[in-house]
Amino acid sequence: MNTRDTLKADKNGHLTIGGADCTELAAKYGTPLYVYDKKYIEDICGVFDKTLKEHYGEGRILYASKAFSCKGIYRLIDRCGIGADVVSGGELYTALSSGFPAEKLVMHGNNKLDEELVYAVESGVGFIVCDAFDEIGRLGRICEQRGITQDILLRVNPGVEAHTHHFVQTATPDSKFGFSLPNGDAVKAVEEALKTSGVRLRGLHCHIGSQIFEKDSFALAAEKMTDFYRRVKDELSCEFDVINLGGGFGIYYTDEDRKLDVGGYAEYIVAVTETLKRCVKEKQLKKPFLFLEPGRSVVGEAGITLYTAGSVKKIEGVKNYVAVDGGMFDNPRHALYGSKYTAVLANRMNEKPCEMYSIAGKCCESGDIIAEDCFLPQVKRGDIIAVLSTGAYNYSMASNYNRNAVPPAILVENGKSDYLVRKQSYEDIARNDHDCNLI
Ligand SMILES: Cc1ncc(COP(=O)(O)O)c(C=O)c1O
Repeated sequence: MNTRDTLKADKNGHLTIGGADCTELAAKYGTPLYVYDKKYIEDICGVFDKTLKEHYGEGRILYASKAFSCKGIYRLIDRCGIGADVVSGGELYTALSSGFPAEKLVMHGNNKLDEELVYAVESGVGFIVCDAFDEIGRLGRICEQRGITQDILLRVNPGVEAHTHHFVQTATPDSKFGFSLPNGDAVKAVEEALKTSGVRLRGLHCHIGSQIFEKDSFALAAEKMTDFYRRVKDELSCEFDVINLGGGFGIYYTDEDRKLDVGGYAEYIVAVTETLKRCVKEKQLKKPFLFLEPGRSVVGEAGITLYTAGSVKKIEGVKNYVAVDGGMFDNPRHALYGSKYTAVLANRMNEKPCEMYSIAGKCCESGDIIAEDCFLPQVKRGDIIAVLSTGAYNYSMASNYNRNAVPPAILVENGKSDYLVRKQSYEDIARNDHDCNLI
């Protein structure tokens, strides 16, 4: 467990987050419950922002809001003084309706619908990141019809493929995202964007992967991107003034991962900015305004999920299961890609773990597992299980599978708590069901 002042056991052996006792939160709000630690989010945004300013200067951190999107989080992020990226009309709507300034938003998406482009342009988002040839033209026409010139970046794929503990260079990237740099698509896209009216090409974006610990992979991406900036300058006489190097910083889920305190996350920003500064100097480029887009690292460790233990099933010689009142409908990450988590008994933190458990959900699906290999004290029905580091890509990937309600999300600070998102009711779940006149 990556303990901190705002995530630790108290003297009664209860897990506390943001000064609140998790057993009391579970009693007050019910379980499953997503709980977010406000101070952690403020602190990490502060670390990212300050490190970028100190080590680089002109730039902005954008919270990649796909990690966790709701009105409250956009308000909190805005108060922290950073921007955000959005990837759909729904995220854009949520951000704008929270009062988030449009000019501090960057719009992504590998298949933006015309209506999403219109919405983004008319709302005045700062940048749109184009991801396909036809999108450049479609966006240009939308802007021209409205007499607007939209700042854009192009998403390129620099041929650096990064995974948690290693990275590789690929000559022919296979990705649905971006224009390939190695195969020449990127240069064609730049030419296309430069001759398209209605858009103003300001620079390029790349995002090389997620949950990456290898800082050298970010540095390599910065090298390749600035090589390309130089090439565009020489061959097309075009000098970009913006660069967006994406997100992807790895966080702590289990002891297989690096354990950083909040301040330690500055390392990632330092690695990127130092490389970028060197490259810009060596390649004699104008120093571009730098965007970085962390998502997971902003909210991942800030969030935990509380569950109530139900049936415990011990299959002799096989494994122990504890079923909880949540499941893949609140956290599909293990089912999707085998993600690992640390879990603790929030009501008995002072007892020594003695048995291995798989934490199973309540959905009708044998792959409905939240976490495997969780070393816990003997679990009994009614125990409060806390699964840690669930703040990113859990709520945002939740569903109503089996018509289960998406759990509420709360924010905690100094022992106080309030809803970020309320619990869905059964009526909410069935709200859009229609009295179909063919039946
Ligand atoms: C374009 C882009 N930027 C930023 C991110 C955020 O990545 P992470 O949450 O790993 O920091 C993603 C994640 O998929 C992404 O696709």
